[in-house]
Order: sequence, then C-alpha cells, then structure tokens
Amino acid sequence: MPDSGPTWTPWRVPAAMPWPAALLLLVLASGAEAFRICAFNAQRLTLTKVTREPVMDTLVRILARCDIMVLQEVVDSSGNAIPLLLRELNRYDDSGPYSSLSSPLLGRSTYMEKYVYIYRSHRTQVLESYVYSDQDDLFVREPFVARFTLPSKVLPSLALVPLHTTPKAVEKELNALYDVFLDASQRWQSEDVILLGDFNADCGSLTKKRLSELVLRTQDGFHWAIADGEDTTVRASTHCTYDRIVLHGGHCQGLLRAAYAFDFPRSFQLSEEQALNISDHYPVEVELNRAAPGGQPLSLVALLLPPLLLPLLLPQLGPTA
Ligand SMILES: *[C@@H]1O[C@H](CO)[C@@H](O)[C@H](O)[C@H]1NC(C)=O
Repeated sequence: MPDSGPTWTPWRVPAAMPWPAALLLLVLASGAEAFRICAFNAQRLTLTKVTREPVMDTLVRILARCDIMVLQEVVDSSGNAIPLLLRELNRYDDSGPYSSLSSPLLGRSTYMEKYVYIYRSHRTQVLESYVYSDQDDLFVREPFVARFTLPSKVLPSLALVPLHTTPKAVEKELNALYDVFLDASQRWQSEDVILLGDFNADCGSLTKKRLSELVLRTQDGFHWAIADGEDTTVRASTHCTYDRIVLHGGHCQGLLRAAYAFDFPRSFQLSEEQALNISDHYPVEVELNRAAPGGQPLSLVALLLPPLLLPLLLPQLGPTA
C-alpha cells in the first residue's frame, strides 16, 4: 500500500475522472440528439379534462418528450383546452417554446374531433397544412396533413399524415389513406411522408388477414415502424397494436433510429386506474437522427476538452514516470 501524503490525495485521478467523462457524454449526446415525432389518442380531450391537475401534469410530461406531437380525439368545442395545455407546457421546463396547429372539428354527426399538432417552434415550423379533400366521404375524420421543417440536411422537410380511424371502417379508411399519401406526396413533390395515429389496426377492429391485405402493406416502400404485436393500450387486459407510425421514403427511413409505444404509466409510476384518467392508449413515438447538425457541438468539445482533461491526465502520468 503506497503511503501517499494528504497533499497527494486530491490529485488521485480515478476519483476525478467521471466528471470530464460525464461532460464529454453530455456534450456528445446533445449534439446527437434525436428528433422525436409522436402520436397520441388523448381520449376525449376536453377543457374539463385538462383542468384536472393530475391529467394536466401527465399530459405536459408526455408532450415535453416530443418535437412534434399529433394529438387525436380533441373534442373541445370551447377552443380553450389547447391554449391552456400550451401555457402549462411552456412553463414546464426549457424544452420549449411550443406552438400548436389545430384542424377544424371533423366528423359526420354531432360528435366531432380535432387533430392538434403541438411542436417545438425553435426546432421545427409548419410550412403548409390542409384537411384532405374527401370527395367520396371515405373518412369520418379526414386526415389533417401538414408539412414541417426538420433540423436535418438530409431531409429538410417532412409531410405528416395523421388518422384516427373509426373502428367500424378501419379497412376502408386505411386503404383510402394510401390516396392521401399520394395526394400529399404529389402536392409537395416528396416521397418522404409519415402516416401516424390510432389506426385501430388490430384485435377486434382488423383481423391479421385483412391487415396483411391493406394497400399500405402490399405496396412496397412503407415501413410499419410500430410493429405488429407491440401493445399500445393501457389496460393490462388488452394487448392490441392500435396505434401506428408508418414511414415512407428513403431519406425518412434512413434517419429512423427507434420506434416504440411509450409506456407512460410505468415511466411516471401511475396505477392503471390513474393512467386511464389520461387515456386508454399509449403514445407512439419515432426518433429520427438529426443528421449533420452543423458541427458546432463537436467543435465545442474539441475546444473545451483538452484544457479540462490535461490537468487530470498529467498527474496520472507522474507516478509511473
Ligand atoms: C380519476 O379522475 C376522477 C375525476 O376527477 C377522480 O375522481 C378519480 O379519483 C381519478 N382516479 C384516479 C385513480 O386518480
């Protein structure tokens, strides 16, 4: 045992190493940060619902994960639920600021829903949006298509096509969704499109056979990132892949890093009963690589690290010399 004096101890490198290593990881991780796109069936989202504190808290924590979120089943006719949600979200942490873009209320009867995009406005902007012109009335809630900018040199913009199907006509609506894809892709001269939402594409609403026969399955080029078998439902008694994210286009698929259903009850330690007060669905999420972020984070590392590491490395060399 070396009997090192008290003046030697503070220079012991192993104890000091984790800090620059952690710094390095932190800086590298922020440079390689993913761009996250999410879809969430927020189950009858009304003003009354969001004013309940536990619901608001959980919704805000879910939203703060996403660069772009498409909320479905927003049934708020007052028009005040989303502004309230945004206000709380913008106060929550420094991940914002966030903005929103709502569709009109869509539906065939007195029961109507909106699609609402909530997005980080310093990372992405809406270029254009439209409600799909549904000539043959195939959809109960026509997709609210939007084109967003992306912080990626490989893919500077991306079209999103959300759909919340009606459980009674899942097959018809999902086949019609292919036409919406063609429409968006022609309009914006881009094949990079993400189709996403509560498709009800499983269990009692769509048999495995019919699922496999959908145009979006039989046509080449569509990657179903939320795979069959993944549970997107909150109840322990159900196991269905209702919510989906489907990617089209080489650039878009090339950037895909991860895709999953976000088990918010587990992450936020909520009981099933508490979670069901928010929704009976999990959000689904994809992470895209932010390709070519401009090199700034890396050059920052190059500048900062040597002076930080040098004093720590030198004493280590000392005793062996
Ligand atoms: C769910 O919400 C209702 C209505 O606010 C409330 O009375 C109930 O306690 C909540 N349940 C749980 C488990 O949080």
